[in-house]
Amino acid sequence: MQSIIAKTLAGLEPVLAEELRQLGASHIRELKRAVAFDGDKQLMYRANYELRTALRILIPVRSFSAYNEKSYYEALRDIDWTQYMGVNDSLAVDAVTQGEVFRHSHYLGLLTKDAIVDQFRDRFNRRPNVNTVSPTLRINVHVQGTHVDISLDASGDSLHKRNYRRDTVEAPVNEVLAAGMLLLSDWNGKGPFVDPMCGSGTLPIEAAMVATQTPVQIKREGFGFFKWPDFDKKLWASVKATADARIQPFEFPILASDKESRARNATALNLMSAGLEKWVRVEKMLFERLEAPAVAGTLIMNPPYDERLKVEDTIAFYKSIGDVLKKRWAGWNAWIISSNRDALKHIGLRASKKITLFNGALECSFQKFEMF
Ligand SMILES: C[S@@+](CC[C@H](N)C(=O)[O-])C[C@H]1O[C@@H](n2cnc3c(N)ncnc32)[C@H](O)[C@@H]1O
Repeated sequence: MQSIIAKTLAGLEPVLAEELRQLGASHIRELKRAVAFDGDKQLMYRANYELRTALRILIPVRSFSAYNEKSYYEALRDIDWTQYMGVNDSLAVDAVTQGEVFRHSHYLGLLTKDAIVDQFRDRFNRRPNVNTVSPTLRINVHVQGTHVDISLDASGDSLHKRNYRRDTVEAPVNEVLAAGMLLLSDWNGKGPFVDPMCGSGTLPIEAAMVATQTPVQIKREGFGFFKWPDFDKKLWASVKATADARIQPFEFPILASDKESRARNATALNLMSAGLEKWVRVEKMLFERLEAPAVAGTLIMNPPYDERLKVEDTIAFYKSIGDVLKKRWAGWNAWIISSNRDALKHIGLRASKKITLFNGALECSFQKFEMF
């Protein structure tokens, strides 16, 4: 057993904690934009492969206090880095700092790299190279005030990269945010799902993955831990095979539509690339004219917020969304995410839930409307 950290987006900590509960993790603690838990190597592999709302899986190596550059450098040199990599390997450092001692993340990254390569140089007269794209070891540094956490990044590339996106239209949502919205919506794959403003299709693709229990990383070629000295190839193969064996068919319709042909085409292409085109119907249609499927289910939409439209137009647009929901979507649970709180007020329906989420840097409200 070891302590493991799964990083996520603000607001998704409870859903990620629930995902971890279902994976059988123990001692689950919700943190800020992260969830800590205890698990073994098998759980660490599963977390990377199966979690829908994690951005990275980190293995903590050491935590300490640093009051200046010198004490930071010495604490880092005190870690035996040869446990994790060889002199012929390469490294990358992701550093984030908030506080007085270290003000610049980039500089902190350089200092970290120096401490590690100096240790190798002293011992072997040679130093490992830096490779920011595909390093043998990716090291994560988090500094808050004087508190330092050093971790190994088991994921490598961020887990929001599912490898199915081939084309995008305006403002696609992050895959982790889309999965989080689906899990927050309580839809759980037990009924129809509609995204009537699908853009490049992130929500319906993630929905099809939830519905068919497809592991979100099924298309990924590698994880950071593949390059670690303790990589257990057999264990990994069994984790992957067990998760892949759970893929199942889905009996309800998933509908993705958008008023733009470009969006319809991008969604269709991305669905094909994900191998999920069988489960999602894609249409070019104005939301105002879209027919609701016969059996009521869950609708999630991510309408434009207001970047292009004028404010009065945005308000009229959100008002018309509310009118259409009332007229055509009786019995459905409708969820809308938007950063435009003024416009959201003009939906003209009472939200039964409001959750704060971030779409990139934009603070948004994700609101539920139960259509009776
Ligand atoms: C912010 S984008 C959605 C992005 C999407 N969630 C993704 O991940 O790619 C908003 C989409 O709403 C569509 N849209 C705007 N008004 C619409 C309407 N009245 N009916 C249908 N689609 C509409 C736009 O064409 C655009 O693709």
